[in-house]
Order: sequence, then C-alpha cells, then structure tokens
Amino acid sequence: MSDLFAKFDPVIEIREQLLATGRTDPFNLVMEKVESPTVAICNGKRTILLGTYNYMGMTFDPDVIAAGKKALDEFGSGTTGSRVLNGTYVGHRACEEALKDFYAMDHAMVFSTGYQANLGIISTLAGKDDYIVLDIDSHASIYDGCALGNAQIVPFRHNDIDALEKRLKRIPEGAGKLVVLEGVYSMLGDIAPLKEMVAVSKANGAMVLVDEAHSMGFIGEHGRGVAEAQGIIDDVDFIIGTFSKSVGTVGGFCVSNHPKFEILRLVCRPYVFTASLPPSVVATAATSIRKLANSADKRAHLWENSKRLHAGLRQLGFTLGTDEPQSAIIAVIMPDLETGAAMWEALLNEGLYVNLARPPATPANMTLLRCSLCALHSADQVGEILAMFAAAGRATGCID
Ligand SMILES: Cc1ncc(COP(=O)(O)O)c(C=O)c1O
Repeated sequence: MSDLFAKFDPVIEIREQLLATGRTDPFNLVMEKVESPTVAICNGKRTILLGTYNYMGMTFDPDVIAAGKKALDEFGSGTTGSRVLNGTYVGHRACEEALKDFYAMDHAMVFSTGYQANLGIISTLAGKDDYIVLDIDSHASIYDGCALGNAQIVPFRHNDIDALEKRLKRIPEGAGKLVVLEGVYSMLGDIAPLKEMVAVSKANGAMVLVDEAHSMGFIGEHGRGVAEAQGIIDDVDFIIGTFSKSVGTVGGFCVSNHPKFEILRLVCRPYVFTASLPPSVVATAATSIRKLANSADKRAHLWENSKRLHAGLRQLGFTLGTDEPQSAIIAVIMPDLETGAAMWEALLNEGLYVNLARPPATPANMTLLRCSLCALHSADQVGEILAMFAAAGRATGCID
C-alpha cells in the first residue's frame, strides 16, 4: 500500500526534534479559562494574551454578548442550511447592512469564515484564462482561492510597486486581470503601499481586491483599513475581511460597489455549498461592527500600545519585523526555531502568551514571536509585558 503520509515526514521529524528537547509544544496550548480579551488561565496560571487577533477587545463587550444571547433564544443554535436556501435569516441581512454602513459601500456578502470569503470571491472572479497578480507573501486563503479558480498566478516581490507594474505589463492584451493585495501583512505587521499599487493596477486595467483582515476596526479614520488611511478606498473594487479579528467572533465578508456584485451569491461555490453562520454569530458580528464604527478612542489607545511595545522591545535589544510600528502586530525575529521555541516557553512561564510563527507561514524562512496588541491592554499590562520579555530574553540568551 502506498504511504500517503510520506510527504509529511519532514514536518514530523522537525516536530519530534523540537519535542525531544523537552520543550512545551507551542502548537498545543489550551486556554482553560478566558477572563477577558487580555487575560486567560493557561496551565493553571494567569496569562496575559499577546497573541490573539482580538485587536479591539470586542469578545466580552456586554452589548455584543447580549445580542448573541438574544439571537440564540429567538432563532436557535444554527440555520442548518445554505444562504441561498433556508440559511438567510433577518440577522444575516442585518449583518450585511451593518457592513455596508461601516464601509459606506453598496454591497456586502457574508461568508462562514474569512478563509471562505477569499476562497469564494477570488475563485469566482478569476477563472482558467484570467490572471491573478498577487504579493508573494499573501495569506494561504488567497493562494487557495487562486488554485480553486484555476487562474494563472503571477506573484511579485513583497510590497514592490515596480515589480507589480512589470508583471501587469507582461499579461497578454485582453486577458482578465485581478490584483490581490493585503492592507496589513500579518507575519511582520507591515502595511502595503496601497495608494501606489492601486494606481498602477488601475492604469494597467486590472480590478483590485484588498484583504483588510488585520486592519479593519483599527486602521483608518473610521476603522475601514489601510485603503481608507491612504485615501483610495473608492478605487478598490473588493474589500475582503473577517469577523475573527477586530469583530471578535467568526465569519468573513466581501464589500464592493460593483453594480453586478449580487450575482456572486448564486455563482460562488464557497458561499452556496456550505451552511450559513449561526444567528447568534451574525447578531454578535453586527453589534460589534456598529460599535467599531464609533471607536476612535480605542483606536487611539491601540496605537499608543503598539508604539510603546515596539519602542520597549527595541530598547531591550530585540530585532523587530518593522523599523516603526505600522499596525497592531509587532513581530520579534528569532534566530532559529529552537531559540524561538525556548523563548516562547520562557514567556509562557513568565505568564505571557504570544504566537510562535515559523515557515511555511512566515516569509524568508523566519521564526517569529508575533505579538498582537489589543485596545484593552492597559498601560500597566504593556509594562508587565516588557518586563516579561526582558526576563525571558535574558534567560534564553536572546538579549544581553
Ligand atoms: C490576511 C488574512 N486573510 C484571511 C484570513 C482568514 O480569516 P478567518 O480566520 O476568518 O478564516 C486570515 C486569518 O488569519 C488572514 O490573516
């Protein structure tokens, strides 16, 4: 019998080597209790959360929780059906209305996850004879969307405007062209030069899709993302987002002003052939989105947290993914996986959870300790976090 698992042997070996050193498995942590968006109990210990995507701290918002409970009582635990059959409730429509208002756009389509939103929109828009030009560091869901649609994939160097332009100019005349970009790249926390990239894309006749998963709620005057902050949101054809980060629940969406957008509901397979989100989830999402529209104070505090953590880590001697803080993600670059795992464990023992990220999720084979800040981290917590980095960094020899 052929061994279909043989292709995973290199991953199994790396994992076994890591666990043989006696390290705690960094990919098997259990949250025993979650007390707030910033604190959980892990291994019986109070742990500050610095590795969630809960940027705006909405998961315990009393209005969000009340909306979810009410919908659970009134509409039950699930829809048991597709959006195009029995799975569209008033709550799904209300959630799409909240998104349209939030982005000031004509159309919004809610998916069961952000992964499915990319999978569905990209694969439906760009088919076999079309070209997708995308940043090489794009999220897995973007690549999977390209593969599902069977489009020609043309990657370009990360955030390189000239490279994007060169690739666009090489595409045969008359072919369908979609440029896919992200607002914030989640591994290093850097932002895209969307203004220039969207201009180049439009000048070359391409439609543009921007995934704002890590910027929604936080970046831009109204929290619409990097496209808003750079003043070009009206030039973007499709914005993809998720409810699993700033919104604080689960789900995904696409918003657009394209006049033919609504037809996608009938032809997009990852929208049609899956069950819709439970009523409680869309109710929490809609409530959260409406509150995020009016959260300028939280956005300002999150920027303060990001700047403070970035400056503090740099002062301690850590190498960071960006020279300046550009988002709520601060990536600490580790020399290798072993040191990264040791540092991750030392931080956990101190009472701090961060994400350990490694290839293939990371660019350039990097091992990263990814810190993502929350608008509800207090100034004291950021101080505690820096003290824990100092202690763990010295214990593991990462800093002097
Ligand atoms: C850039 C980007 N797009 C899409 C997604 C998928 O979002 P979801 O968790 O809703 O599937 C993620 C999740 O990490 C992401 O980082």
